[in-house]
Amino acid sequence: MTPPPRNGTYAAVSEDPARAMALPGSAYSDPFVFAAERERVLRGGWIPVARLDQLAAEGDYACSDVAGAPVVALRGKSGTLRVLSSVCRHRGMPVVSGEGRTEVLTCPYHLWRYGLDGALLSAPAMQGSEVFNPKDCRLPELRSEAWGGWLWVNANGGAKPLADTLSDLSARLEPLEPERMVTIGVIELESPWNWKVMVENFLESYHHIGSHAGTLQLTHPGLGTFEGDGSDAFTLIENPPADPQGRGFVVAGVFPLGLMFFTEDEAPVGAWYQMDRLLPDRFRLRIHLLAAPALAGLPGFAEGYLEQLNAVHAEDIAACEGVQAGVTSPEYRPGPLSVLERPIWRFHRHLALRMNGE
Ligand code: FES
Ligand SMILES: [Fe+2]
Repeated sequence: MTPPPRNGTYAAVSEDPARAMALPGSAYSDPFVFAAERERVLRGGWIPVARLDQLAAEGDYACSDVAGAPVVALRGKSGTLRVLSSVCRHRGMPVVSGEGRTEVLTCPYHLWRYGLDGALLSAPAMQGSEVFNPKDCRLPELRSEAWGGWLWVNANGGAKPLADTLSDLSARLEPLEPERMVTIGVIELESPWNWKVMVENFLESYHHIGSHAGTLQLTHPGLGTFEGDGSDAFTLIENPPADPQGRGFVVAGVFPLGLMFFTEDEAPVGAWYQMDRLLPDRFRLRIHLLAAPALAGLPGFAEGYLEQLNAVHAEDIAACEGVQAGVTSPEYRPGPLSVLERPIWRFHRHLALRMNGE
């Protein structure tokens, strides 16, 4: 049983968006709050763990971590998609890391071998043990669901089916065909700030006017952005172009950690911000660059897009670093949120509901 969060961190989240405030400092630094978030928000929610194009062929796998638990997403025999705990049933070493293709998962520590369904196939020199039974040594499978071109995992198995909660988001994204997009590059960054600093930064385009004054603000002005739709499960932010002939882009957040955007070009590009290895004050960020299949093979396209995204993300790094220092300082007092930050209020409501066990 997880202890309730201390000091009412989420108690002050208003039902009324016009009264929305930033979260108190304890949300960003208190290890008890973090422990409760891991259990209730992260293990209780749907977390994207791989793009389906990373798992195109039998034996393809991609590793990540959900609320501190190493997992592997893979495509098994006859095309079955699965998410397994990758924690070895011998002494706990993750049996696989990174991504690739394999027929068997072989733990690097003592070479116990597992099939793609998690069954233990062999274990060297275990004949003398009277308590060794291969059937008891299966890698557990976690509940998973495919949506939008990703495989998602719900670690505690108790969440509502994902597609049911995202039907409105699916309808808005449908013309952009996110499930057809292919991964054309990855940027990996250790990110030394609380995970919610990143999510909050992602979920508002208000900061185009400040952080991105020389980049995004010129093409997609912050004050013209708005929340197009939202619920307990997701938010969607519309970013109209400055030039009426230009194309907008759509940012979506599937709570708690599904962060993505897509341009509205004829051949759209997009990105998925994958966050794992969460600790109270850091996480690993992998930005997966996505593109419509027609763009994927164009010479120099991936490189150009990577450079552009890196430049914009450098501006977000500066913002997140600054905010992390501020919200963990004794002088921090939560301030009121703009209507342009309605998606952050929605995220906070999601957190408050989950943290209160709803
Ligand atoms: S920990 Fe995996 S084989 Fe020993
Ligand atoms: Fe930004």
